[in-house]
Amino acid sequence: MPAFDINQFQIQLHNQKPRKILQTALESFDNIAISFSGAEDVILIDMALAIRKNIQVFSLDTGRLHPQTYQFIEAVRKHYGIEIELLTPDRNMLDAFVKQKGLFSFYEDGHQECCGIRKVEPLRRKLAGLDAWITGQRKDQSLNTRQTVPEVEIDSTFSTPSHTLVKFNPLLNWTSAQVWDHIEAYQVPYNSLHAQGYISIGCEPCTRAVLPNQHERVGRWWWEAGNKKECGLHANNKQ
Ligand code: ADX
Ligand code: SF4
Repeated sequence: MPAFDINQFQIQLHNQKPRKILQTALESFDNIAISFSGAEDVILIDMALAIRKNIQVFSLDTGRLHPQTYQFIEAVRKHYGIEIELLTPDRNMLDAFVKQKGLFSFYEDGHQECCGIRKVEPLRRKLAGLDAWITGQRKDQSLNTRQTVPEVEIDSTFSTPSHTLVKFNPLLNWTSAQVWDHIEAYQVPYNSLHAQGYISIGCEPCTRAVLPNQHERVGRWWWEAGNKKECGLHANNKQ
C-alpha cells in the first residue's frame, strides 16, 4: 500500500472532473480495480484505458442477472479486449441459504440477506486484496443515500484494523443526462435493457423498468417500502 494522505486527496480532488479523479486514482495506486456493472462503469473503463492499459475490472455475478446483462458484460470484454473478473458467491453459504429459504425469499423478508450472500460477501473477499477501488456511484442516483458521496474516501465498510481501503467515485457529480451524452458521443457499449425502460439495473428478480419521469431507484426492490434502497456495497454512504 503506497503512503497517502486522504485529506490531501480530498482537497486536491474536490469538484474535479471524472478524468482527473480517475487519473489520480490510477497513478496513486497500482493495486486498484474498477467495480463494473452498469452504464456508468463502462465510461470509467473507457476513460481509464486512455490513462493506463493494465486496469483491473471485476463484476459481481450474483447468478441472478438478466441474460442481457451477461451479454453486456461479454460485449464490454470484447470491445475493450480486457479481462473482467466475475466474482461468485461462496458456494457453502449459497447452498445453505437456498436450501433453507428458496430462490425468492427477498420478496417475503427483504433483500438484505440475499444481497449479503450474493454481493457483499464476494465483494468483501475481493476488496480484502486491493488497496483501492473505483465505483460509478453518482449523487443523483439516490436523493436519500447518495447525496454526500465524495470524490474519494476511506471505505469504512470494507476497511479493517489491519487493512485500509480507499474508494474513488469519479462520476459523483454527473447527471444521468451527462452519462448518456458520453455513451452516445464515444460509442460506449451499454446494456440493451436500457432500450426497454430500465434505468438502474441490478438482479433480474429485483429490478424493473420505470415509467417516464419516475426516479431510477423506483425500479429497484420496488416491493420494499422506504427510500433507503441500498444493498450493502455502499453502506458507508451517509444517510
Ligand atoms: S447497488 O448497490 O444499488 O447495486 P448501483 O447499481 O447503483 O449499486 O451501482 C453503483 C455502483 O456500484 C456501480 O457503478 C458499480 O461500481 C457498483 N456495483 C453495483 N453493482 C455491482 C455489481 N454487480 N458488480 C460490480 N459492481 C457493482
Ligand atoms: Fe438477491 Fe435481489 Fe440482492 Fe440480487 S438484488 S442479490 S437477487 S436480493
